[in-house]
Amino acid sequence: MRILVIGSGGREHAIGWKIAQDEKRENIFFLPGNAGTAQIGQNIDGDVMDFVHIKESCIANNIEMVVVGPENPLCAGIYDLFKTDEALKNIALIGPSREGAQLEGSKDFAKAFMAKYDIPTAQYQTFTSDSIEEGKAFMKTLAPPYVLKADGPAAGKGVVILDTYEQASQELEEMLNGKFGEASSKVVIEEFLSGIECSVFVLTDGKNYKILPVAKDYKRIGEGDTGLNTGGMGAISPVPFADEVFMSKVKERVVLPTLHGIEQENIDYKGFIFIGLISVKGEPFVIEYNVRLGDPETEAIMLRIESSLVDLFKGVANQNLDEVDYKESKQTSATVMLVSQGYPEKYEKGKAITFETDKDYDGAVFHAGTKQQDDQIVTNGGRVISVSAKGDNIPEVLKKAYQQVDKISFEGKFYRKDLGFDL
Ligand code: AMP
Ligand code: GLY
Repeated sequence: MRILVIGSGGREHAIGWKIAQDEKRENIFFLPGNAGTAQIGQNIDGDVMDFVHIKESCIANNIEMVVVGPENPLCAGIYDLFKTDEALKNIALIGPSREGAQLEGSKDFAKAFMAKYDIPTAQYQTFTSDSIEEGKAFMKTLAPPYVLKADGPAAGKGVVILDTYEQASQELEEMLNGKFGEASSKVVIEEFLSGIECSVFVLTDGKNYKILPVAKDYKRIGEGDTGLNTGGMGAISPVPFADEVFMSKVKERVVLPTLHGIEQENIDYKGFIFIGLISVKGEPFVIEYNVRLGDPETEAIMLRIESSLVDLFKGVANQNLDEVDYKESKQTSATVMLVSQGYPEKYEKGKAITFETDKDYDGAVFHAGTKQQDDQIVTNGGRVISVSAKGDNIPEVLKKAYQQVDKISFEGKFYRKDLGFDL
């Protein structure tokens, strides 16, 4: 089967690496991909939001299946285009419809959905510029700190957590007065939940589902979870606190009601649901939904999926996912993200990367922000390379991963050395 993976990060390289266990290199395509994906398939230049170009590329390359990595094309309706366009409708697209993607694209939509289907989440209300005073009054009913969320996508900056009522009411005014443009024309204010977070991934054909390996990511740039938020500095799978008891609560209280809601609302959903969860004294609450896989969680969990990802995707496309075998490894995996000095703020690109990693270590190296420049691979983003390893326990996999991290060099290489410190 000829498969196109849309996106250019470590997530997409890891998805492609897993597909490559079943498919020949000439059947695997990436748009736009990176220097790592070029080693396992064919990169097609272009932008993930350029649907005209994506359509032309699918036709030119006889693509039979498209897997969408990032959320933006999903929120913009790439699924709906493939479903309705005469030339594309026989191509299976793994990802939800535009309506389903609202679970990530609109915090207000997601919260209303959770409220309607009785899915545990922080209590909340949504406000607009006409209801700033009501927003402040609602805040007074909550204990600090205060959580304010821009309704729409705001480049990862739309969630603000503030300690005092004064700071929070000023932030509310600024957000509703256009701080994040259209994205903050509505603001969700919610109760602060205290606990430890994890990422649960579900693959669904709209009816049947598989719960994929659970993972925990490390979002802050600094050790001990300090400093600025990043796209993700590493991940570990599975997560010791997400044990069998916790995961059965997740299934009963979150996964099944979410799928029930999707069916009840007649939402066309054939893709991933990424549930950002917080465990509050052992009870799961949903922090957010995403409609794609996580990055860098994917770089860890792909090492633990033993079944064929291509067969799982076919099950999604044919809506018989219940008939597809799913097995995951009991072993542990982790990924360490190597980033450019200065990330997530200003950083330089174009630094030569050298790889002296062992060929046969128990893991894989996934490229994120890299590109081929003549005969040299160079840095091309903030998150550059993700080094994944598999083993029997967290200390062992981290040791294996950090050993390989030491064998990759580029000027300004930075990474967190304390992954798993809280587990
Ligand atoms: P989001 O963009 O929704 O992932 O939120 C970013 C981060 O803010 C989450 O990963 C949490 O760490 C934190 N967060 C969001 N909502 C809450 C909440 N209600 N209580 C505590 N922390 C939260
Ligand atoms: N690692 C979190 C995310 O992909 O949003």
